[in-house]
Amino acid sequence: MDAFSYRGGCLNCDDLPAAELASQVGTPCYVYSRAAIEQQYRTLTDAFAEADPLICYSVKANGNLAVLELLRGLGSGFDIVSGGELFRVRHIGADPSTVVFAGVGKTDREIREALDAGILMFNAESSSELAAINRVAADLGTTARVALRLNPDVDPQTHHYITTGKKENKFGIDFETAAGIVARITDYPHVRLVGYHGHIGSQVTDPKPHAESLGKLIEFANQCAPANSEIEYINIGGGFGIDYQPGQAVPPSAFAKLLVPVIREAGKKLILEPGRYIAGNSGILLTRVVHVKRSGGRRFIVCDAAMTDLIRPSLYDAYHAVWPVLSDAPFEENGCGPADVVGPVCESGDFLAKGRHLPDVQQGDLLAVFSAGAYGFAMSSNYNARTRAAEVLVDGDTYRVVRRRESYEDLIQQELP
Ligand SMILES: Cc1ncc(COP(=O)(O)O)c(C=O)c1O
Repeated sequence: MDAFSYRGGCLNCDDLPAAELASQVGTPCYVYSRAAIEQQYRTLTDAFAEADPLICYSVKANGNLAVLELLRGLGSGFDIVSGGELFRVRHIGADPSTVVFAGVGKTDREIREALDAGILMFNAESSSELAAINRVAADLGTTARVALRLNPDVDPQTHHYITTGKKENKFGIDFETAAGIVARITDYPHVRLVGYHGHIGSQVTDPKPHAESLGKLIEFANQCAPANSEIEYINIGGGFGIDYQPGQAVPPSAFAKLLVPVIREAGKKLILEPGRYIAGNSGILLTRVVHVKRSGGRRFIVCDAAMTDLIRPSLYDAYHAVWPVLSDAPFEENGCGPADVVGPVCESGDFLAKGRHLPDVQQGDLLAVFSAGAYGFAMSSNYNARTRAAEVLVDGDTYRVVRRRESYEDLIQQELP
């Protein structure tokens, strides 16, 4: 996490002291580093350079327009899962021929919008969806490019909530069913089958499951060639893990080492859909301590950020490092007592960290919640009528508020008398 480092007793984002940012923008506040996003994108593309993949950044991880614009500028395409995400990428002028559309429940409206936009392809997840794509494409007098999303039944060894390629998961189509669909592909004359897709899960820290999945996808592609078209693309999704704690992740080069020779041998175009890898460690959440209380023998540090701002700890028991913004001994737990870092939301499940060894923080102190750039703001909500946080993009020693903090008026804007 080079972008976020302690200098002279204060956490900096690039060349900006986080304490300064917090006093100017307020808290809770998401802070993203432009340099870190660029570095992550480049590290991934460099690692896979020999395969010359199409990188489709997964918008769901962090869909802020400034982040999307930055990635578009770097040459990224986009992986979307809804009409709303399509709207976002169109808004920043993404090249539609770099956009792929996944998700198990695409509606006719979303399919129509994507066809109108001219996206590269749908990742179709059922025969019912293929029929819908075929019907809408026929209505529009066009042909839709489609990759079938396969369920390779591979265990990515990650949290079961973010495992997506096991046979019990709702995603994709098992090989037997998919083979039946490919055999009858001419039943869908407005669909052109151009690829196979398989995303096995998120925060994957071992390249072997990805290699297993790719092997299965290619074997399937070799056995099941559609009658009326050619399989050009293999999309292995995203899932590249990051360090929430030091030493957890392996670099993209370790994935590339196993995957690139296989895809080159197969002679297919590779698509990658990284989300967390690009955004996760490119952002932090800044929060201020509202109260410190002791009860039942525990120390509770109550912050102004909550599960409504960062739900991953509550939802997945996810670990995010937390440390005071002002600190002469960053991450030095010796001599620190245990504490639960919690928010003000009326749920016992509202916590950012549990049982952490933290210094003796006081009311008004600032804390940083690390590795919060992906699935942070994107999963935030207004529960308890809480206004959602501001988002800031830092560029060297300057910053830009890229989403203003919500106001109380924002909370009621959509409601009718
Ligand atoms: C189809 C698909 N592609 C890509 C991603 C991005 O995953 P990650 O952020 O782990 O790279 C996801 C995440 O859920 C996904 O479902």
